[in-house]
Amino acid sequence: MTQSFEVLVIGGGPGGYVAAIRAAQLGFKTACCESNPYADPRGEPRLGGTCLNVGCIPSKALLHTTHLFEEAAHDFAGQGIQIGEPKIDVSRMLARKAEIVNKLTTGIKGLFRKNKVTFLAGHGAFVGQTANGWKVMVGKEEIEAGQIVIATGSRARHLPGIPVDNTIVCDNVGALDIDAVPKKLAILGAGVIGLEMGSVWRRLGAEVSILEVSGSFLSAADIDIARETQKILTKQGLEFHFGVRIDAVKTGRKGVTVTYADKDGKANKLEADRLIVSVGRVPNTEGLNAENAGLKMNERGQIEVDAHCRTNLPGVWAIGDVVRGPMLAHKAMEEGVMVAECIAGQAGHCDLDMIPAVIYTTPEIAWIGKSEQQLRAEGVACKVGKVPFMANGRALGIDAPEGFVKMIADARTDRILGVHIIGVGASDLIAEAVAVMEFAGASEDLARICHAHPTLSEVLHEAALACDKRALHF
Ligand code: FAD
Ligand code: NAI
Repeated sequence: MTQSFEVLVIGGGPGGYVAAIRAAQLGFKTACCESNPYADPRGEPRLGGTCLNVGCIPSKALLHTTHLFEEAAHDFAGQGIQIGEPKIDVSRMLARKAEIVNKLTTGIKGLFRKNKVTFLAGHGAFVGQTANGWKVMVGKEEIEAGQIVIATGSRARHLPGIPVDNTIVCDNVGALDIDAVPKKLAILGAGVIGLEMGSVWRRLGAEVSILEVSGSFLSAADIDIARETQKILTKQGLEFHFGVRIDAVKTGRKGVTVTYADKDGKANKLEADRLIVSVGRVPNTEGLNAENAGLKMNERGQIEVDAHCRTNLPGVWAIGDVVRGPMLAHKAMEEGVMVAECIAGQAGHCDLDMIPAVIYTTPEIAWIGKSEQQLRAEGVACKVGKVPFMANGRALGIDAPEGFVKMIADARTDRILGVHIIGVGASDLIAEAVAVMEFAGASEDLARICHAHPTLSEVLHEAALACDKRALHF
């Protein structure tokens, strides 16, 4: 028998599960199907997508454990805490990470029950249009729905001639499950995954070499932030090679040899126990049969959508990593809410210019809005307030004086155009900048807000004051 729903969401990642919950909250009879292969003890597909299973959450769990390990090894003694040399139990670290993943992915099934979203285990594929909407096969079951939200996400991009076995040569899936500290770890790509996973294993004692095809580092970040990040991470022991060309990767029983040409064209060999390939991600559209249904894709293989995530097909929407914009969980969630609200006839809103970016290294890096180099290229006259964490009592108290906050405001209107942070707690500090900028706030607005003392948020406050050369503590 064909089951019918008002809304069917294909894919249960952060975009999909949030869209399904919001649609159900708005009164629609809603289902969400998920086919992911991540191991579940009961053999069911897990909800939560890349983010919960093999992305944001497990990577942050490993970053936390290894951050504590590094503090215990290097920082405790300076505070008078004597514990001897810490040892890492990698299997316990991985088990803790798996427990968190399990708790959160199971929790989403609970949220579905609470909000009356029907969970359908199986791969969704378009069959065709009906009088009232669309017919979709979910596994072996035929489903009819008036509105379809495609939230099929992305997967790691692999490179020709570099087969990923997720044991010796890993993408993000294997990189999160490396079961012993590699003596030498090679990474292709100095992007977000390269920096985060490189930090994890470097902290535990691996020699980490990162090979990056581009001649520059973190080109999406503000130039000062990129420079400071490179300086700090290099000092921590990450080894970067920029402007390389990967020529061959050979795996053997013991490890991997990467042959590459350096920036001057000179041939080099890098031997390592493991290799992580983190060179970007590609949208998941195969097996959806959406092209046969007439769905338009762009040249990058993403589903083409308008500002409200409408596709070219009536009643078909697409959100998250499978469409344009940053591949971030919070962006996918925002679009999920927007689409559900648009289906309900509400305004729906997702401002792609107001999606914060965060890199969870030590120190953390976070930004919102435009970089100084972007604004310069656009010819916007700006004023800049830059204040180091070194000038903040709380940062000194918690032994984290590295980094700075850089605020950029329009020289004429004072409106904040970008906030760029490298420093402890940047991932949380950026939220205040997003809130002020979302309401088109000025540096003067932020300067007039009272910030608790002693807190890290005072650095943001000082940066706002510094925009008008009136910082009080720097
Ligand atoms: P996904 O999370 O990819 O979910 C899509 C789901 O759809 C998957 O479960 C897939 O199995 C399912 N699916 C696909 N096709 C079908 C089909 N035909 N039928 C049924 N189901 C289907 N982002 C952040 O914001 N912060 C971070 O800290 C962060 N860390 C990351 C760390 C790593 C290592 C990685 C790889 C990514 C990280 N990301 C992070 C990115 C984040 O995971 C993604 O942006 C986010 O998961 C995208 O959500 P989504 O719902 O669009 O897609
Ligand atoms: P990325 O796009 O961040 O970085 C990929 C890097 O690989 C780039 O610097 C690119 O120049 C380089 N590269 C491309 N081809 C190469 C080659 N052949 N050899 C060497 N280098 C090459 O992609 P990454 O790190 O794979 O992460 C994917 C996405 O997942 C991110 O863009 C982000 O959207 C998301 N993510 C977000 C996180 C966060 O929010 N903290 C954490 C991890 C991932």
